[in-house]
Amino acid sequence: MDIAVLGTGYVGLVTSVCLSEIGHEVTCIDVDKEKVKKMALGISPIYEPGLVELMTSNINNGRLHFTVNHKEGLANKKIIYIAVGTPQKKDRSADLRFIVQAAKDIAHNIKNDVIIVTKSTVPVGTNMYIKELILENLTTDLKVEIVSNPEFLREGSAIKDTFYGDQIVIGSENDGPASILEKIYKPFGVPVFKTDIYSAEMIKYASNAFLASKISFINEMANMCEKIGANIDDVAKGMGQDRRIGSHFLRAGIGYGGSCFPKDTQALVKMAENVQCDLGIIRSTIEINELQHTVLLKKAKERFGNLVGKRLALLGLTYKPNTDDIRGAPSIPISEQLIKEGANIIAYDPVGMEKARAILPKEIQYAGSLEEALLNADLAFILTEWDEIIEYVENKLMEEPVIFDGRNCFSLEDAKKLNVEYHSIGRPA
Ligand code: UGA
Repeated sequence: MDIAVLGTGYVGLVTSVCLSEIGHEVTCIDVDKEKVKKMALGISPIYEPGLVELMTSNINNGRLHFTVNHKEGLANKKIIYIAVGTPQKKDRSADLRFIVQAAKDIAHNIKNDVIIVTKSTVPVGTNMYIKELILENLTTDLKVEIVSNPEFLREGSAIKDTFYGDQIVIGSENDGPASILEKIYKPFGVPVFKTDIYSAEMIKYASNAFLASKISFINEMANMCEKIGANIDDVAKGMGQDRRIGSHFLRAGIGYGGSCFPKDTQALVKMAENVQCDLGIIRSTIEINELQHTVLLKKAKERFGNLVGKRLALLGLTYKPNTDDIRGAPSIPISEQLIKEGANIIAYDPVGMEKARAILPKEIQYAGSLEEALLNADLAFILTEWDEIIEYVENKLMEEPVIFDGRNCFSLEDAKKLNVEYHSIGRPA
């Protein structure tokens, strides 16, 4: 199949690379000239394990192309993916600016009947709106069909998730375009679930909201465990062994972050408000998550009285390991709180420091290594469970800073062997 993909953000690029890997001819279209130039040379704008290797091999075998030219990229394509961003607006709803532009670009450049596949996370009803918009802007009489095909990739394991995902959701008005898409995905061997467009759009938001709720739930339990002397790791393990509950997304910590859960939960609440529905569980999920971003600071203040002039090593800045993404990361509110409290922050992240510099408070200093970050530190906050951080702390510890572990990187037994003062989440001190 000859496929065009509009937007080379995280979802667009990973999707394009994986589609080319299973044999399709894929043209990625993006407005950012510099980025397109680099991608054509096999330079990825994002850090994602395995991506560069697949990108390079498919550029070399001639199946993966990049262009800024919509005319060239869209002409003669029968399948066009929309994977542009839907950032959050001030009123918490999804900003559809790039979606609207994509629909217009498609309408102005196609020459034949098309199937539009929406990968971007869009509010319920948006796919039908995209279709209308394309039809309104067409100058010739062409057939436009639309498919909602939400993605369930996790950053850091996106390639694996694409090839070994639990399911592919395809929402369409009739079976014609859905069957074509099913054929496109056949080489993945992942089960396909076909449904209507509105349900497919809703599955995406409901799934992310449910996962976020699981995290806030376990964090709430963790806070209670601390009061009664129970261990949240064992509680989560014991709960997770019940298959009705499942063991995933029950890791307690400093709360979820990223470009998806925070934005999508808020957009869902907003969408529900628009149809006079109150999503109490999701509102609480968001509130608990924001409170959870403050727990390490509370613990540090209880321990030190105040943090004025204290040298604090902030370890791990990305919202999770194996990505360089800082969007929505707990490191943002946490570092802002620490600056207000007068701490001197020296930060380190294995791959996220470049992006962090643009987003985190300007007062933060950055270290070239973990050793440098921890040198003479009074205390350390672990915000992301990067292997490099865990291994370093395990193997050679610094001048005895007090550790506040926001991701429960060590079992309590292993923490004892570290021979430092160790604080974590939801476990006996
Ligand atoms: C999430 C979903 O997991 C994907 O299915 C979805 O496709 C994606 O959003 C999206 O909508 O694009 P992602 O944000 O990449 O994926 O990362 P997750 O692995 O889900 O982690 C999100 C946050 O939750 C991280 O900050 C992580 O540290 C936190 N988390 C996760 C916990 O605090 N505890 C857990 O048990 C699991």
